[in-house]
Amino acid sequence: MPGPFYITTPIYYVNARPHLGHAYTTIIADVASRFNEMRKKDVFFLTGTDEHGDKVVRAAKKENLSSRSYVDKISALFQNLWPELNIKYNYFVRTTDPSHIAVVEQILQKIYDSGDIYFSEYEGLYCFGCERFYTQRELVDGKCPDHETAPEVIKESNYFFKMSKYQDWLINHIKKNPDFIRPQRYKNEVLSFLKEPLEDLCISRPKTRLKWGITLPFDKDYVTYVWFDALLNYVSALGYPDDDRFKKFWPVAQHIVAKDILKPHGIYWPIMLKAAGIDTYKHLNVHGYWNVDQSKMSKSLGNVVEPLQLKGIYGLDQFRFFLLKDMTFGLDSSFSEETFVQRINSDLANDLGNLFSRILSMAHKYFKGVVPETDPQAEEELKPGLEPNALTAVEDFEKEMETFAFHKALEAVWVFIGSMNKYIDVTAPWVLAKKKSAKKQLQTIIYNLLEGLRIISGLIYPVMPDTALLMQKHLGMDVSEPFFTLDRLYTWKRLEPGTKLLKSITLFPRIDLKKIKAEIKREAEADDRVFEIKPEITFEELAKIDFKVGTVIHAERIPKAKKLLKLEVDIGEKRIIVAGISESYSPDDLTGKQVLIAANLKPAKIMGVLSNGMLLAAVDDKGCSIATFDKKMKPGTSVR
Ligand code: ME8
Ligand code: MG
Repeated sequence: MPGPFYITTPIYYVNARPHLGHAYTTIIADVASRFNEMRKKDVFFLTGTDEHGDKVVRAAKKENLSSRSYVDKISALFQNLWPELNIKYNYFVRTTDPSHIAVVEQILQKIYDSGDIYFSEYEGLYCFGCERFYTQRELVDGKCPDHETAPEVIKESNYFFKMSKYQDWLINHIKKNPDFIRPQRYKNEVLSFLKEPLEDLCISRPKTRLKWGITLPFDKDYVTYVWFDALLNYVSALGYPDDDRFKKFWPVAQHIVAKDILKPHGIYWPIMLKAAGIDTYKHLNVHGYWNVDQSKMSKSLGNVVEPLQLKGIYGLDQFRFFLLKDMTFGLDSSFSEETFVQRINSDLANDLGNLFSRILSMAHKYFKGVVPETDPQAEEELKPGLEPNALTAVEDFEKEMETFAFHKALEAVWVFIGSMNKYIDVTAPWVLAKKKSAKKQLQTIIYNLLEGLRIISGLIYPVMPDTALLMQKHLGMDVSEPFFTLDRLYTWKRLEPGTKLLKSITLFPRIDLKKIKAEIKREAEADDRVFEIKPEITFEELAKIDFKVGTVIHAERIPKAKKLLKLEVDIGEKRIIVAGISESYSPDDLTGKQVLIAANLKPAKIMGVLSNGMLLAAVDDKGCSIATFDKKMKPGTSVR
């Protein structure tokens, strides 16, 4: 049923550059959005950045920037990355936006007025990395489980939010709404946490300790705790409380987060909403963590995966596909380029890519690239054909996508791809093509296969939008009208006989990981060369070298010396200079050229020729380029 659909990602901290993990969450939000567009829902997709708090202040200091310019800079990295990954969000919220700040103030005041916020002294164990107090039992060996550092004892007066008051309400709500938090494992995690008495949440920071935050509307000496501020983005971005957007989308709100922030989203957030008199969200969808080659992704390990780099090497749709296919939603997954390449080669190049080019080639070979007519009698004979498989694929796909089981949704599509490949093997069109009497059968088979490709192109759309479009163009479909709607996939035989098809192409080139690794290594080495700097010298040391403008009078090869040229150069006097440039220049290229000469270099015999000076050139593994002058100069002019 069409209706509104509202999906959010976490708003990311601006203390680090975006990496694979952020890309994953934001891509699945995009996939969910596109899927819901296929169902003709009215979609609102929100992402953004979380810009207040201690962490950000420290990161800004490290870069010698003011907090303000630092958050602008990093937020822009996120804003610029998403379109590169074909992510179509509707709104980008920043917690430094005045409209967000106003909502935070308003809701704080409302909860304060209702008596759920109180002032009290507190002494506790504080982790600066997490920006929160820890209870003894949450620590692992006396250390913060996240940062593995011992928390510090801090005593201060602060404002507290009465979470404990709502504990029973929350337990009931979760039990009454079994898919409020999903998958189940995370619901269970929250419920088991709620078995212990809930502590009230400290929601302020004294300005003596932290200034970069939203001032409490009821006490100007305090700023708001970053989580209390950040979570409210989900309603502030909709224009809470009066905007129509809020009224329309909030009742269907779904969040996506990873397991690292389950507690703020599964516990603080519903209770904050309850206390503020706002209905709670519909679903919290929780995914696992991406590790890299089995270890945690971290700057210090130097294994942070850059999404744009992967896009550049392997292709965007390949990247999006891999992320969705390789992670079971809810569980952790380990990223490795080896598995990534295997997936591209097997699922994309072999299964889908080959199927596509095979069918198009046959359509061109047997029917001049025009969609053939089906024949009712042949259809009967060929039953059950592909139609039931297609229908099953679309149904399974829809069911799995709905619950964020993306890997299963893709599996359903690949089961169908498998049945298409089998259909080709069983019907063997190349055999029928040799029999005149089988023409109608052949027409029907090729039509069915093309129609199967149409279904596939629709089903892969949320995950691989570019490829979906490319396939549809090749199927001669009008891609200007919104084709990617689910109802069109539920009906078979929509391709018009007589439609002109484009020539077959390779959708996904096969990847040779060894080649790619060698190329990356070569590029890295080339980069290293450029940036290698010799030890510093003084001006006096530099001034010892006598650089002069020289005009090449004559150049010739030196017999038996493949790389060398013998040059006669006018540098105010005539000099013979040997230069190793004959693989990049022929003697004729050089005559008349003005070149840069180190004139006081001690003469040396090279391949039997006495070279008196040296010609300067830039050298890399592809060859060399001589240094010249961009205006005519008198030979012998000094170069300083
Ligand atoms: O927590 N694997 O921001 P954050 C999978 N500002 N997903 C990962 C990941 C990984 N290795 N690393 C990060 C914050 N993520 C708060 C959120 S919301 C009101 C405030 C993704 O920058 C994943 O979505 O630390 C995770 O929940 C989020 O980035 C954490 O982003
Ligand atoms: Mg984090």
